[in-house]
Amino acid sequence: MFRPIASTLERRAVTLQVQGRPITAREGDTLAIALLNAGVTPFRQTPVSAQPRAPMCLMGVCFDCLVEVDGRQNVQSCMVEVSDGMQVRLPTGARRAEDAA
Ligand code: FES
Repeated sequence: MFRPIASTLERRAVTLQVQGRPITAREGDTLAIALLNAGVTPFRQTPVSAQPRAPMCLMGVCFDCLVEVDGRQNVQSCMVEVSDGMQVRLPTGARRAEDAA
């Protein structure tokens, strides 16, 4: 049904670290798609009830895909492209206060 504009094989492979584990994606993939392709789920847990969350809309509306990217908290993974060496952490609990300002 959906096909990427460029063939997957035509795009350069990039490696990112997820919770310290390397995963491979293709340049131009969104981070959410790269994580889902690698079998990563859930992406986070809600701060109050610890319910698991994973991407739902894949277009920046639901905020269920929030992860930490290179130390930046609450990044919508469906709205950023992967890059080589990207460091991703799957958040649990509330946002850390030192980064809230
Ligand atoms: S999947 Fe809904 S905002 Fe990212």
